[in-house]
Amino acid sequence: MPPCWTTPEGDALGEAPVLLACADWLDAAATLAPASIDLLYADPPFNTGGAREGRSGRFDDSWPTVGGWVGWLEDRLAATLPALKPTSCVLLHVDWRTSHHARLLLDRLLGVDRFVNHLVWAYGLGGSSPRRFARKHDDILFYAVDPERYWFDPPLVPATSRRLRGRTKKATDVLLIPSINNMAVERTGYPTQKPLALLDVLVRACCPPGGVVLDPCCGSGTTPVAAAASGRRAFACDPNPDAIRIARDRLRSVAAARPDPFLP
Ligand SMILES: C[S@@+](CC[C@H](N)C(=O)[O-])C[C@H]1O[C@@H](n2cnc3c(N)ncnc32)[C@H](O)[C@@H]1O
Repeated sequence: MPPCWTTPEGDALGEAPVLLACADWLDAAATLAPASIDLLYADPPFNTGGAREGRSGRFDDSWPTVGGWVGWLEDRLAATLPALKPTSCVLLHVDWRTSHHARLLLDRLLGVDRFVNHLVWAYGLGGSSPRRFARKHDDILFYAVDPERYWFDPPLVPATSRRLRGRTKKATDVLLIPSINNMAVERTGYPTQKPLALLDVLVRACCPPGGVVLDPCCGSGTTPVAAAASGRRAFACDPNPDAIRIARDRLRSVAAARPDPFLP
């Protein structure tokens, strides 16, 4: 049966700004209209070799081989490409385990000349190691469908130099945003939940106001929440019912917090 897109309130497909589906990315991709998506942000399982567990959910994160993970991702990315506009951006969120494979995959699927940035999300928190530099960043590979036409609004961050003190400057490809701490209000208990501040920066930078974001591995729904709160629309899916339940609850809270959450 094809996946069913519903609003956060559980209504059937309509013109709602955010639509959710409890579905595999591959099946969801087949239902998307051609050239309808402005930003594809995908934060797939990282192939850590085990299950990812949290207070409110769990998902399997293990493939027999790295090649198996690449093949899984390739099938889904390839199925999604027809849904992207010529002005679309693609952000693929991975880590040290697979970023080199993922970059070659995107070069192959989109073209080497479509590469825009290798973003580093430096998150800080966590332990250290006596045997190596502590691993404190994820990799977000930024590609454009058409390098001449993609939409981009550079984020501004506080300037640090003495000359520009108190002013802002355009962000670099290193995003210094803390991961979610144990006491954070936004923490849902879903494993590998990304901070809203990170998705807010990415969505505003790479999707025009009123545009459509697709998050095909949405987990706790951070991306559709960031999209809704910044006046973008979103399609978000995940095969894990826990993820979709949490995403629905978060999106209902966004709607309750503002009379019209979908206006910028
Ligand atoms: C790294 S987590 C995403 C976390 C999310 N960005 C957040 O902020 O909560 C990866 C997600 O991919 C989902 N996933 C696993 N297999 C999938 C598939 N075939 N299609 C779509 N999503 C899948 C998992 O259930 C998990 O929720």
